[in-house]
Amino acid sequence: VTISVIVVAAGSGERLGSPRPKAFVDLAGQTLLEHSLQAVRGLSPLPQVVVVAPEAWVEPARELARGILGGDAGLSVVAGGTSRTESVRRGLGAVSTNSEIVLIHDAARALTPTEVFSRVTGAVTSGAKGVIPTLDVVDTMVPRNRETGVTSAAIDRDGLAITQTPQGFDAVTLRAAFSVFEGDATDDAEVLRASGVDVISVEGDRDTLKVTYPHDLEV
Ligand code: CTP
Ligand code: MG
Repeated sequence: VTISVIVVAAGSGERLGSPRPKAFVDLAGQTLLEHSLQAVRGLSPLPQVVVVAPEAWVEPARELARGILGGDAGLSVVAGGTSRTESVRRGLGAVSTNSEIVLIHDAARALTPTEVFSRVTGAVTSGAKGVIPTLDVVDTMVPRNRETGVTSAAIDRDGLAITQTPQGFDAVTLRAAFSVFEGDATDDAEVLRASGVDVISVEGDRDTLKVTYPHDLEV
């Protein structure tokens, strides 16, 4: 099976408030992008890797990726768009046409272990068209009005899960779903669901968070 991994790293990281784009911010001696690629490098065989970077950061991203992956083989770096969905769309354009499985990962989820990549890949290999890593919700969840701060009755958390990345897809199904999808989706599973395809879950990683706020970098 031929696998491609798209690492989306083209966001600005507004909530982090750093002068450089979030994927290029340092965490314990390496950028978030490098950490993400380290997990990808743990896969064997090494998949095709597509990094989606902010337009002005394509060359720096290529340098960092080369350093982690040990060269250019199977590496593409492309410029992203103004939304995550647009960035994924551009990344998909660089995925090799003979890839059978595509994984899409947020550079912001820098410390996701290789085993989550393997678990997701395994479920797609076993026949699922779309696979996402999820966690049980342990906290009580309530709707909250952002303006007034008023909360309402708790949502049954038994029926809810937290979603993570990498999300994995059958390549043909993913391309078909993106070709008819318009607008922006919160993640790629949502694009698949919009075309009526079921997305299944595998266990995510409880120990790693998406880096969003400055506090998330304090490890
Ligand atoms: N992303 C992207 N292109 C965009 C927006 C987001 O490639 N136009 C990527 C980010 O680089 C990140 C992932 O999608 O790895 C998840 O997005 P998020 O955590 O929201 O990152 P940012 O959009 O950069 O952060 P913020 O929303 O705070 O600006
Ligand atoms: Mg964002």
